[in-house]
Amino acid sequence: MTIAYLDAAAHTDAGVAYKRRFLDTLDVLPGQTVVDVGCGPGTDLARLADATGGEGSVIGVDRDPLMLDEARRRLADRPNIELRSGDAAHLPLASGSADRARVDRVLQHVPGPAAAIAELHRVLRPGGRCGMAEPDWHTLAVADEDAETSRGFTDFVAGQVRNATIGRHLVRLCVDTGLRVRSVEPIAVLFRDFGTADEILGLRRNCARAVQAGRLAEAKAASFLRRLAHGPLVAGFTFYLVTADK
Ligand SMILES: C[S@@+](CC[C@H](N)C(=O)[O-])C[C@H]1O[C@@H](n2cnc3c(N)ncnc32)[C@H](O)[C@@H]1O
Repeated sequence: MTIAYLDAAAHTDAGVAYKRRFLDTLDVLPGQTVVDVGCGPGTDLARLADATGGEGSVIGVDRDPLMLDEARRRLADRPNIELRSGDAAHLPLASGSADRARVDRVLQHVPGPAAAIAELHRVLRPGGRCGMAEPDWHTLAVADEDAETSRGFTDFVAGQVRNATIGRHLVRLCVDTGLRVRSVEPIAVLFRDFGTADEILGLRRNCARAVQAGRLAEAKAASFLRRLAHGPLVAGFTFYLVTADK
């Protein structure tokens, strides 16, 4: 996961739309303390800080020092944003210290999503709210006349992600942790142009890897990519946006 990839994803139409919706559903109020777990290069921290106003504070946590360095560089002029190194399974925050907590495409990667959600529960104050936005990669569909190659591609992509179906499990994991689910929104992400789909889904990159792994036939993968590049392209997947209260 590179910083360039995260920036590109945040700037797609779908990225802009779901992040705006995420902020709305989290309902951050002035003066609140907000934690963004797996904050990456600080993609959402400035918007969260704007919502907390001058009296509030935002804490970005990530385990990757490169992400934290970039976030520090980008947000150097924002005194109410703090960056902390830490793991989603052991957050560097006191129990009951946050009004709001969010994870945005992080649980798909962690070894223990239940433990990470338990940590969100622990750091929230009673009545606090958390939000989660995670994909379900097994809903990925790429329209093509060669259904077998298309399925081979989508299965390969889903197989690259540790918790590929995390989106559909968020509600159960929240309930198991003792959180009260407020809202569940499916977000349909649709790509219509080859360039954006290639950037976000790695059409060419993942076809090449799948061929190398013996999962796709080289000639069929090349034809698949040619047809997708020629268009019309329809490719997409479902993302889940869940909010829950402690
Ligand atoms: C897909 S990126 C999302 C970044 C950011 N939330 C955004 O929307 O741009 C996932 C981020 O989670 C971080 N991450 C992955 N596993 C983690 C863990 N166990 N604890 C803390 N951060 C983690 C990665 O370093 C990366 O920055």
